[in-house]
Amino acid sequence: MIKIGNAKIKDLDKVVELENEIWPEGTRASKEKFESRLKIFPQGFFLALKNEEVIGTSTSEIINYEPENPPTSWENITDKGYIRNHNLNGNALYVVSIGAVSRSGGGSALISAQKNLAQKLDLKYLILGARISGYDKYCKINKEININDYVKLRREDKELIDPELRFYTRNGLKLHKIISNYMQEDKESRNYGAIMVWENKSKDK
Ligand SMILES: CC(C)(COP(=O)(O)OP(=O)(O)OC[C@H]1O[C@@H](n2cnc3c(N)ncnc32)[C@H](O)[C@@H]1OP(=O)(O)O)[C@@H](O)C(=O)NCCC(=O)NCCS
Repeated sequence: MIKIGNAKIKDLDKVVELENEIWPEGTRASKEKFESRLKIFPQGFFLALKNEEVIGTSTSEIINYEPENPPTSWENITDKGYIRNHNLNGNALYVVSIGAVSRSGGGSALISAQKNLAQKLDLKYLILGARISGYDKYCKINKEININDYVKLRREDKELIDPELRFYTRNGLKLHKIISNYMQEDKESRNYGAIMVWENKSKDK
């Protein structure tokens, strides 16, 4: 069974260890950045645990989200990962990072935790910028294809071809916009990102 809890300072070495295990070089965050996120918004810093082992982590911050003017880069929206721009007057919880051991179920449990927090804080949206991590590989194996066409491709079972977009849509988020140069060194995604949105329907009731 997966347990979700809030991270403490003493957990940060484990968090960094996991980050280095699961993320490609160029997309990993340093301990300093995690320390800053924990200091500024501890409520949004979750750990997923299985048999007392950390199998996933996720961090978030509050932003003001305007659908017609979505975030343009991860660096901007997250203050380069330090979240000093955390905005208590904002309307959305933005997922700064999420990472889990592949197919552990940790990823889905962490998305649920962030959604629950958005509801608890009475925020209208949960937002994140997804990598489009299957894009480069797909082009190399099949043929070069435009990113707008790629994100619509589906498998025989009707689920999206891209593994990360599939994961987020399965967890209730919808693709709002594709952004070029969303991340600086994300070769797998050819630096594209997808703004994914979940609307908190309990807000305004
Ligand atoms: C995306 C991520 C948060 C999902 O968390 P998770 O605990 O694996 O999620 P779940 O078990 O709830 O769901 C699995 C789904 O995640 C998606 N997924 C995205 N990237 C994935 C990956 N690298 N490995 C496995 N699943 C991945 C798939 O849609 C998968 O569903 P599938 O079985 O139909 O392919 C997690 O896999 C992750 O952190 N990936 C990033 C790290 C990474 O890509 N590492 C490899 C490159 S170095």
